[in-house]
Amino acid sequence: MLNISEVCFAQIEPKVALLRQIPDDEKGYELDLFCVPKHYEEDLDRVIIPHGLIMDRTERLARDIVRDMGGHHIVALCVLKGGYKFFSDLLDYIKALNQNCDKSVPLTVDFIRLKSYCNDQSTNSVKVIGGDELSTLTGKDIVETGRTMETLLSLLSECNPKMVKVVSLLVKRTPRSSGYRPDYMGFEVPDWFLVGYALDYNEYFRDLGHICILNEKAKVKYKV
Ligand code: IMP
Ligand code: MG
Repeated sequence: MLNISEVCFAQIEPKVALLRQIPDDEKGYELDLFCVPKHYEEDLDRVIIPHGLIMDRTERLARDIVRDMGGHHIVALCVLKGGYKFFSDLLDYIKALNQNCDKSVPLTVDFIRLKSYCNDQSTNSVKVIGGDELSTLTGKDIVETGRTMETLLSLLSECNPKMVKVVSLLVKRTPRSSGYRPDYMGFEVPDWFLVGYALDYNEYFRDLGHICILNEKAKVKYKV
């Protein structure tokens, strides 16, 4: 296993992070335009980010990461559970670039589980489960207040990594934000509770490909 202190990212030029901002008045797409699992048909309001668009954006994030880090070893840390789909697809795109470009990024992977949510509300504690090898390129589902990520970053700093870069598919526009912004971001979303593509509501909806809005009935149906 590679030690974190061996990980080296040099010559990374600071760049203004580009991201797609989904506006507050975004209507999204009617469910009937796409395929959603039968067992969730009654639970969802609209599709906000279709699976294909997630994949296209992820492909570009992979290209930006390889451009910035080409030639250096990355220890990629997946933040479970919500980050597993994004992490897996992002790494697939990085692998495809590694096979087809002049620059390539050697990769090893690790996993950590963080838990902070109950129903659609953030709790005040961030629970860390697993992940004995804390590492450097951190793949995350969504940043809302930023508290989860700040907790993880302070844990990672105890391991003295040469550099830590955070990639999050989603960043929420919310007054509850601590101001924390990841290094790479896919989409900025309104202050809505979203599910799908591994984002859950009490463990449901991870098995939904698109990122969607739940209806109020579903919030009651799956409440704990
Ligand atoms: P933060 O600590 O407030 O940034 O919250 C981050 C964590 O809360 C994420 O990793 C998710 O697990 C969860 N979370 C925040 N917003 C949502 C959402 O809209 N849907 C599902 N989970 C969410
Ligand atoms: Mg969750």
